[in-house]
Amino acid sequence: MAINRPEPKLDHEYDGIEELDYPPPAWFNAIFWGSIAFGLCYFLYYHHYDGPGLTAEFEVAQKEHNALMRQLNPPRIFTPQEVAAAEKDGATLAQGRANFESKCASCHLKDGGGQTGPNLTDDFWINGDGTTPFLVRTLQDGVTDKGMPAWEDKFRPEELLAIASYVRSLRGTTPSTPKAPEGNPVPNA
Ligand code: HEC
Repeated sequence: MAINRPEPKLDHEYDGIEELDYPPPAWFNAIFWGSIAFGLCYFLYYHHYDGPGLTAEFEVAQKEHNALMRQLNPPRIFTPQEVAAAEKDGATLAQGRANFESKCASCHLKDGGGQTGPNLTDDFWINGDGTTPFLVRTLQDGVTDKGMPAWEDKFRPEELLAIASYVRSLRGTTPSTPKAPEGNPVPNA
């Protein structure tokens, strides 16, 4: 295609060689300046103001994922009859005790007196009221940001009920080195 308009020449010439001066096309300028503006905003938002870092974004995604998994796979709720039966059944309590001693004693001590984790024999509870259904919930979910692991994936629901029943049976006992009470006073029912 022939170009009819005069060619825009820069006003220098070397040995007959001239330089043309076509401006870059508008779309190119838009991308060029747009990228700079975007980069500046990105830098200010993430590095100067409090834009979320990768870790924060990951934690949000993980929370959403956990909430979704909980929705798809709701925890087993035991009936009051099941709970009452487990609390009285010797074989269940023995199974709960074995798991408690192997998995929980490292933080709560064998007699539940508490060390890294709180005393489980007293009438003070940080989470819930110390009754078996609430203990099951604490075991399922853990208190992961305070150092109490979640046990839902490690034990079957019946095993969690057995452990919770055993923990319930420790209440009111006298451990050898009791940790000072933590949480709210809840009368032992
Ligand atoms: C790595 C250490 C650790 C292990 C292992 C652990 N816990 Fe804990 N546990 C904690 C900590 C720390 C807390 C306090 C959480 C808080 O501050 O809310 C806690 C809290 C609890 C509570 C709630 C106490 C309250 O006052 O609210 C119960 C019940 C409990 N643990 C039972 C268990 C059982 C049963 C196991 C074994 C299956 C276990 N824990 C294993 C560290 C541990």
